[in-house]
Amino acid sequence: MFINSIQITFFSGTGGVKRIVTAFEQECFRRGIPFSHNDLDRSINNRRSGSPARALLPDDLVLLVFPLHAFDAPLPVYDWLKETNLEGHEVAVISVSGGGEAWPNTGCRYRLCREIEAKGGRVVYERMLVMPSNWMFTPNDHLAMHLLQAVPHKVNQVLAEVLAGWVRRSDEQLSRERAFLARLEKEHTFEFPRSITVNVNCTGCGICKNHCPVENIQIREHRPLFGENCIMCFRCIYICPFNAMKSNNLMVLKKGYNLNELEKRMQGVELLPVEKCASGWLWSALRDYLLDGE
Ligand SMILES: Cc1cc2nc3c(=O)[nH]c(=O)nc-3n(C[C@H](O)[C@H](O)[C@H](O)COP(=O)(O)O)c2cc1C
Repeated sequence: MFINSIQITFFSGTGGVKRIVTAFEQECFRRGIPFSHNDLDRSINNRRSGSPARALLPDDLVLLVFPLHAFDAPLPVYDWLKETNLEGHEVAVISVSGGGEAWPNTGCRYRLCREIEAKGGRVVYERMLVMPSNWMFTPNDHLAMHLLQAVPHKVNQVLAEVLAGWVRRSDEQLSRERAFLARLEKEHTFEFPRSITVNVNCTGCGICKNHCPVENIQIREHRPLFGENCIMCFRCIYICPFNAMKSNNLMVLKKGYNLNELEKRMQGVELLPVEKCASGWLWSALRDYLLDGE
């Protein structure tokens, strides 16, 4: 396959996908492949610090990387797709999840790939990568560290396969019931802020406002005020340095989500073998992923 350059288009809610994107950039650099990046984060903070995306070049392969939200891509990915012409472009679709390529995640790229094709793109490659989950169940620290340490190897594998022209497609759909549940969750993300309470620790500093990827937060009378565009990424809750936001939604991790803190905590700790820290049915997809049996 002739690839002139790669455009890495991505969305990251709480930093997991961002780490994978950084690893892709490092690997492109190491291999001497020109790349650009298109961050779909529309936060004030990102607009201030990020460089604007350049337009797609005719021979760009689009490497689309996103976190799974309810067995599907998050809304900013679909919004990007609406305004993008992919005619003539090959697209590699990389979903990143906490649960791995296990049912019902297996159908997570189906709808998106159909929509990419409707926009003229040719999906040539699909793959699931895994990061410590920011949602529902969080793996133990040993397993989480194994997932972080696996990133360079997995990214290297993906890039090698894409550049060698491997076609890797999945045809799994979500069952109708699951797809319905996922859609239900998606269509109600705007209601998520109603589950949030802001406690006395809030200083009105505006970090949540400046980092919200869809600019859905304003500060009124020193308190965050949410609009109607929440995409339920949990960034505002996990990023608050004062732990001032709590949600009664069971999907939010009560202890928060911070990969830098995890790494600090685990510095110098000898990791348990994968078979030990990923034992049991719940972690079987992660075990297979780490042992390269996927
Ligand atoms: C609202 C929401 C829904 C999620 N749904 C799924 C899911 O269906 N399956 C899964 O394995 N992980 C799911 N996750 C976990 C994320 O896909 C995973 O932690 C990812 O690495 C987050 O990337 P980010 O830190 O860049 O946002 C979900 C996370 C959120 C916030």
